[in-house]
Amino acid sequence: MEFMLDSANIEQIKDLNELITIDGVTTNPTILTKSGMQPEEALRKIAAILNKDQKLFAQVVKTDYEGIMEEARKLSAIRPENMYVKIPVTRDGLKAIKTCKEEGIHTLATAIYSASEGFLAAKNGADYLAPYTNRMCNYGDGVAEVIRLINMLKVNNMDSKVIAASFKNVDQVAALIENGIPAVTVPCDVVYQMIGHPATGVAVDEFSANWNKTYGRDSFFEE
Ligand code: E4P
Repeated sequence: MEFMLDSANIEQIKDLNELITIDGVTTNPTILTKSGMQPEEALRKIAAILNKDQKLFAQVVKTDYEGIMEEARKLSAIRPENMYVKIPVTRDGLKAIKTCKEEGIHTLATAIYSASEGFLAAKNGADYLAPYTNRMCNYGDGVAEVIRLINMLKVNNMDSKVIAASFKNVDQVAALIENGIPAVTVPCDVVYQMIGHPATGVAVDEFSANWNKTYGRDSFFEE
C-alpha cells in the first residue's frame, strides 16, 4: 500500500518525509500555484527531497491532445526514474494516456469522478487512477464509488493502481485504507491531523509526571 503527500509545500514535505514513510509526492496545477515558486523550481525542490525510489507526479496544463503529449514528454524527462505524468480523463486526455502507454511514459489518470471513467483510463494503460474522493461526495457516496473502482479492477485482473485523492478529512482516508486501497495521496494538513491524537500527548504527560514523582528524574536511567 502506497502513501503519498499531495503537496508542493517544501517545508511540510521535508518534515513529513522525516517523520513518516512516504512513497512519493503528487502535485497538480493548483497545488503548484500555491507553492510561491515557478513550477519547474518547485518540482526540482521536491525531487531533491525524495530518494530515487520515491515517486514524483506532475500534471499537464495543456488540454488538447498534441499539447498534452508535448508536456507529458517533457515532464516525464524531469527525473530518470519514478516520474509520473498526471493527465485528466477528458477525451483528449484518455487518448494521450493511450499514447503515453505506447511510448513508455508513466501516467496517472486524474480528475476521475466515477468508477467508469477510471475503468476506461485503466484500459488505456494508466499506471495510476486518481478518483477525487471528497469532490465525488458532492455527487453521491465518494468513498463507495472509489471502492467500486477498486473492485472493478480486481475482478478483471487489471494492473492499474487506484490512488485515491482529494481528501478533506482523516475519516475519508481511513475508510479507504480499511477497504484495501492500493494507494492514497493526502494533503499535508490532513496528514498532520492523522498524527498525534490529543489523548496521546495526555498519556505521555501522565507517564512523565508519575516517573518524575517517584524517581525524581525525566529519564529511564540515572544520568
Ligand atoms: C490529486 O490527484 C488531485 O489533484 C488532488 O487530490 C485534488 O484535491 P482537491 O479536491 O483538494 O483539489
